[in-house]
Amino acid sequence: MFPASLLLLLAASATAQTTVTPSIPHSPPSTASKLDRRVASLSIEFSYLPSFGGNNSAPNELTRSLIQRIVDRTGVGPDLRPGGITVDSSVYDPSAKLGLQLVTSPTGGIYKTIFGPAYFEALNVFPNSTRVTWSVNLGNNTVGFAQAGIKAALEHIGLKSGRLFAFELGNEADHYSWGTTRPSTWASADYTSQFLGWTSYLSRNLSIPQHMFVAGGFAEDPTSAAPMTTRSIIAEGAESANTVKLYAQHTYQYSTCDPPRDAIATLEHLVDHRNITAYLDLWRPQIAAAHELGREFTVGEYNSVSCSGKQNVTDGFGQAMWLADTILYGASIGIARLHLHQGATLVFQSSNQANGPGFSWYDLWYPTESERYGAARAAPSFVAYLLLAEAVGRTDTARIALLDLGSAAPEQLAAYAIWEGPALRRVVLLNMAPRTDAGSETAVVDLKIKTATVKRMTSAGGLEEKDSTKTTWAGQSFAQGVAVGKEVVEKLEDGKVTVRGAEGVVVFLH
Ligand SMILES: *[C@@H]1O[C@H](CO)[C@@H](O)[C@H](O)[C@H]1NC(C)=O
Ligand SMILES: *[C@@H]1O[C@H](CO)[C@@H](O)[C@H](O)[C@H]1NC(C)=O
Ligand SMILES: *[C@@H]1O[C@H](CO)[C@@H](O)[C@H](O)[C@H]1NC(C)=O
Ligand SMILES: *[C@@H]1O[C@H](CO)[C@@H](O)[C@H](O)[C@H]1NC(C)=O
Ligand SMILES: *[C@@H]1O[C@H](CO)[C@@H](O)[C@H](O)[C@H]1NC(C)=O
Ligand SMILES: *[C@@H]1O[C@H](CO)[C@@H](O)[C@H](O)[C@H]1NC(C)=O
Repeated sequence: MFPASLLLLLAASATAQTTVTPSIPHSPPSTASKLDRRVASLSIEFSYLPSFGGNNSAPNELTRSLIQRIVDRTGVGPDLRPGGITVDSSVYDPSAKLGLQLVTSPTGGIYKTIFGPAYFEALNVFPNSTRVTWSVNLGNNTVGFAQAGIKAALEHIGLKSGRLFAFELGNEADHYSWGTTRPSTWASADYTSQFLGWTSYLSRNLSIPQHMFVAGGFAEDPTSAAPMTTRSIIAEGAESANTVKLYAQHTYQYSTCDPPRDAIATLEHLVDHRNITAYLDLWRPQIAAAHELGREFTVGEYNSVSCSGKQNVTDGFGQAMWLADTILYGASIGIARLHLHQGATLVFQSSNQANGPGFSWYDLWYPTESERYGAARAAPSFVAYLLLAEAVGRTDTARIALLDLGSAAPEQLAAYAIWEGPALRRVVLLNMAPRTDAGSETAVVDLKIKTATVKRMTSAGGLEEKDSTKTTWAGQSFAQGVAVGKEVVEKLEDGKVTVRGAEGVVVFLH
């Protein structure tokens, strides 16, 4: 008889050897979705765009470098949507000397965002291939603000540049009934009718081509309680003015906006493949409604935890694992692009939120020195954007599917296959389980592939790692926007790859 402790040891080492043998279709199945090279896109809070981009006399070089690391891999910059709550108090002043002037309360709440021509200089640190979704004020209910905002973008970005991708009216209009500019009865049909009226008028008045507007952009999860959804506005005739380019909704699964939601915004809940997939599945009917019309569906703004994230949950490597799984799963169910929101705490967003002023705990990078974070640098989660950039590749013909690993596989192991044309090109494996000393969560994946290379996203301290110099992609860290360390490209061992807890790999077929 073995002593009980030895049995346990044997059991642990047996589970440490868990081998998964996925069956991967060699050509894309009919359920595979189109994979956009720009799937991992960005949203930056309107009033903080200059903090991230700077201006011509003080361009933000960290932002420029970090974005260039993505361009190095995909050939294009991520799409950018300057937007969010502050767009609904934005006013363009063509004679403003400063790019941005905020009218704030003593506690830092933003009443008004006045922007001038120099505001557009913040876009110059992004490559020309970064397309801009330009948001204008709808919240104030004054069409002149929207008209001036679009006119400014036409002058300072221009349609000919190819950078002006779409216009967006306001932010999260499903919450307008909470404010003072709409009646408390403000409903989906009211939004749709105002959308049709304004987009028709603005298109005519400013000679905008047809189909240039994002429709929707709602905050609420599309459950039966949602006041407005992509489906509801389509049913109400959103297409009837020929102004819709695509549909968007926002996704924030967790929140620190109030104590009950703050309590469940834990790292354990966040980095959980089942939670990620179950949540995004709520949008499937909305995605289908857009696709039935031949339109793209995007997540116009999202992040892990609303009201600016959460310390020790969204500011570590766990956020990188969450990002990789969220974006790849989103793509696999037909979401064209997801705009990851960046910014700083908005004092007026909630009167009982957990966070004080400062760059958001979920930001991918901290663009300038700040009291909260110290020196400007990439956040520990930035490396996820490099894993994603190499996973999506450089073509516009890729397709992606989540692989069914069977019921015997670890629940927290996610596997995605990516095809270009008919050929299987890459496999992404994400082990979402927390890393333990015993390593019982380690997965060995037998791909039965002879020649392939492997790049790994990992960190020294697992999900909790908060030092950006210790979170790496292919052996290199990117805290200052440039690679530090020697690139590590691994090979499969006898067709197999080992993925520890809190690690992701991309396997490249040759
Ligand atoms: C450009 O950015 C610098 C640094 O933030 C700022 O001091 C200056 O006022 C900005 N210029 C304009 C025109 O906004
Ligand atoms: C981007 O486009 C502008 C205007 O067409 C041009 O002046 C600039 O050189 C371009 N920048 C890059 C990096 O290609
Ligand atoms: C709408 O804009 C006007 C003019 O700037 C301003 O006085 C008013 O406070 C704004 N309303 C809201 C709700 O922001
Ligand atoms: C656009 O609207 C403005 C009023 O805000 C008006 O002066 C101008 O003539 C209009 N232009 C066109 C082309 O309709
Ligand atoms: C997320 O996962 C945890 C267990 O890991 C579960 O208890 C919880 O109900 C899930 N859903 C949410 C929304 O947190
Ligand atoms: C986050 O972790 C640090 C270090 O362990 C701790 O000092 C801090 O209080 C934690 N913050 C929160 C909000 O839990």
